[in-house]
Amino acid sequence: MAKRTSKHRVTLIPGDGIGPEVVAAARAVLRAAEVPIDWEERLAGAAVFKKGVASGVLPETVASIRRTGMALKGPLETPVGFGEKSANVTLRKLFETYGNIRPVRELPGIRTPYSGRGIDFVVVRENVEDLYAGIEHMQTPDVAQALKIISRGGCERIVRLAFELARAEGRKTVHCATKANILKLTEGLFKRVFEEVSREYPEIRAEHMIVDNCAHQMVMRPEQFDVIVMTNMNGDILSDLASALIGGLGFAPSANLGDGAAIFEAVHGSAPQIAGKDIANPTALISSAALMLRRLGEMKAADAVQDALLVTLEDGRALTPDIAGEAGVGTKAFTAEVIRNLGRAPKSYPRREYKRLRAAQPAAPPLSVGARRLAGVDVFVESLAKPETLGPRVEAAVAGLPLRLAQISNRGAKVYPNALAAEAHPSDCLRLRFKASGRGGLAEAAVLELLARVGEVAPWMHVEKLPEFDGKPAYSKDQGED
Ligand code: NAI
Repeated sequence: MAKRTSKHRVTLIPGDGIGPEVVAAARAVLRAAEVPIDWEERLAGAAVFKKGVASGVLPETVASIRRTGMALKGPLETPVGFGEKSANVTLRKLFETYGNIRPVRELPGIRTPYSGRGIDFVVVRENVEDLYAGIEHMQTPDVAQALKIISRGGCERIVRLAFELARAEGRKTVHCATKANILKLTEGLFKRVFEEVSREYPEIRAEHMIVDNCAHQMVMRPEQFDVIVMTNMNGDILSDLASALIGGLGFAPSANLGDGAAIFEAVHGSAPQIAGKDIANPTALISSAALMLRRLGEMKAADAVQDALLVTLEDGRALTPDIAGEAGVGTKAFTAEVIRNLGRAPKSYPRREYKRLRAAQPAAPPLSVGARRLAGVDVFVESLAKPETLGPRVEAAVAGLPLRLAQISNRGAKVYPNALAAEAHPSDCLRLRFKASGRGGLAEAAVLELLARVGEVAPWMHVEKLPEFDGKPAYSKDQGED
């Protein structure tokens, strides 16, 4: 390969456990492939926690990634029990790497129950929203709650990324897997945005699938998939399932893409039991480095590195002990074999043509809504009173206000009046749903007065307004609600 003078700057985070060994392997392969990179080696993970930095990431590491916009990292340990945050989550949030990309392709020489089926798809997981915003509260000593937050802009950028990736890789179908049948507003928003954005990509088939069916299809007929886009938690679970189809987490590379930075890493962790023994398998990290090369526009070098890795697996002459058992060789010997194989192409593995991934368009500004009306309020209270006792007490307390108690529910099922099911499991967290009596909707002052009056009957801990946007309810109905 011709030598060039302009170098890419990349932040290199060796990480913990086997991290330094697999990162060194990837670095050696890129050096041998003559990719011009200036590495900025920086710390994150266990060593940083030990210095007392609770985020697990040093300021100079953050500054380096800001400068380079590109990082290759080893796994980072999350200490258990000291109240520290995960350094991985810190990096994800700091750089808003909203797109988690996980290619899943059958590997030559790695026998699985699916060998020969031609599995070749990419999971695109939203990486910063959803339940992983981590907003949780105990409603009562007995009842916990987590908020699932999904924004239109967040959906737009990840869905566009999925379609752009399909274009860049010449793929024909994008599936969107959601739980929109149950979670009509949150998962439903993701599905609606998918349907809207898909119109901008008429040459790509867009298909929606309920996520539980997607899990089933992934096991039954994984070869049908090309690209699958999902919200954070669904994507988290199904991308691990997907990795298992091709040989397990040890082989799975990943990219975390944001607008300002991209972080590439293996999916596996720091494997402390085998650290420092020269037996870790660097396949996933070398594959992640190949993904990084495509982001850098080094398409030929990316192909060369990926091919050399595949030839090594296909030949099977020097494999690490996790694949070859007793006959296995060390990380360094495996890496040397990959380097020796640079310039060779695998026999059984057709090369995919990659174009550079186009930056997704910025998301549209928030929707403006013509008419808004406050149709009511949900007030969550702590009470062990029976609904048929609590209901009349609340009705008496709010008499005279411009609203009425429409119903009480227990974890989404109506318990008063006319309980949906007589045997509803008792809970001390009940939701009182109030509806405005007038056509004009509720005024703020009425809501405050309502809270004061409800508080005299039972302590409340959580309030949600029930808005209508352009005449349509912007909240979910309960099971059993008219
Ligand atoms: P792990 O992935 O480190 O290990 C699971 C199993 O796979 C172990 O048997 C391990 O020996 C094996 N393994 C993993 N990678 C391997 C490789 N490259 N070659 C050969 N064998 C390999 O998962 P675990 O044990 O749950 O986590 C260990 C630590 O890693 C924890 O502190 C966790 O927080 C951290 N972690 C970090 C991640 C990251 O930085 N992205 C991801 C997952 C875990």
